[in-house]
Amino acid sequence: MSDYLVQFNNISKFFGKVIALKDVTMKLKKGEIMCLLGDNGAGKSTLIKTLAGVYRPDEGEIIVEGKKTIFDSPKDALDMGIATVYQDLALVSLMSVTRNFFMGREPMKGPPFFKTFDIEKANKIAAERMGQIGIDVRDPSQAVGTMSGGERQCLAISRAIYFGAKVLVLDEPTSALGVHQASVVLKYIVKAASQGLAVILITHNVHHAYPVGNSFTVLNRGKSLGTYEKKDISREKLLSMMAGGEELNKLEVELREMNRSPTN
Ligand SMILES: Nc1ncnc2c1ncn2[C@@H]1O[C@H](COP(=O)(O)OP(=O)(O)OP(=O)(O)O)[C@@H](O)[C@H]1O
Ligand SMILES: [Mg+2]
Repeated sequence: MSDYLVQFNNISKFFGKVIALKDVTMKLKKGEIMCLLGDNGAGKSTLIKTLAGVYRPDEGEIIVEGKKTIFDSPKDALDMGIATVYQDLALVSLMSVTRNFFMGREPMKGPPFFKTFDIEKANKIAAERMGQIGIDVRDPSQAVGTMSGGERQCLAISRAIYFGAKVLVLDEPTSALGVHQASVVLKYIVKAASQGLAVILITHNVHHAYPVGNSFTVLNRGKSLGTYEKKDISREKLLSMMAGGEELNKLEVELREMNRSPTN
C-alpha cells in the first residue's frame, strides 16, 4: 500500500478560457498537516473542490489510499472519509449547537417505525465533544449564532471528526479570527493531526501556517511552485514565494518615502 493517504497527480482544471489549475501535483500522509498557500485567485479553493467531489478535474488523477478515484459528488468524497470545512462553514445560525452538530444524522430512539430524535443523547455527545476541545457549551440548545467565530470553526471541525473524517480539508479556517481565537483553532488542528488525521490547511497567512504545518505547497496562478517540508524552507522564504510579497516590499519602500516628506 502507498504511504500516502491522498495524491494529486498533474491535476488541471479549466473554466472556459480560465486556467484555474495546471499540472498540480501534491501528496499527503496520515497525521500530516499540509498547508496550501497562495494569493487570491491562485486556485486553492478549486484544488480542494476537486478533492471534495464538487468539480471533476479536466486532467490528472486523484489517488486515495492507493486507489485511483473519481468523485461524482461531494457525498462520494465524504463516504471515503474526506471532509471539507468551507469558509462559510455550512452552519445554521438560528439552529442549536446540537442540531448543527448532527445536521440530519441525529441519534434516534424507540422501536422501528416509531423512532424519535434522542435529544438527551445528542445534547450529551455535542457538549462532550465540544468540551474535549476546551469549549464549554453550558446549554447545547443555544443557537450557534451566539458562539464566537473560533468556536463555530471548532464545531464544524469536531463534527467532521465525529463522523469519521480521515482527511480534513479546511478552507481559510482562521481568516476571520483574531490572534487568540486563531490560536485556539490551530491548536485543535494540531491535536486532530496527532490522532492520525491528514489535514490540508488552506490559508493566506504564512504566520498561521508555519508553526503548525509539516509541509507547504505554494500555488501561484494555478501552478504549483512546489511542496516543501518544513526543514527545507524558512518562513521568510515562504513569505517571499507568495505572490504579493514583492508588491508589499515595494509598498513598504513607497510608504517610507511618503513618511519622509512632511518632516523635510
Ligand atoms: N466556477 C468558476 N467559474 C469560472 N472561473 C472560476 C470558477 N471558480 C474559480 N474560477 C477562477 O479560477 C481561479 C482560481 O480561483 P480559486 O477560487 O480557486 O482561487 P483561490 O486561491 O481559492 O482564491 P481566494 O484566496 O480568493 O479564495 C480564479 O481566476 C477564479 O476566478
Ligand atoms: Mg478560495
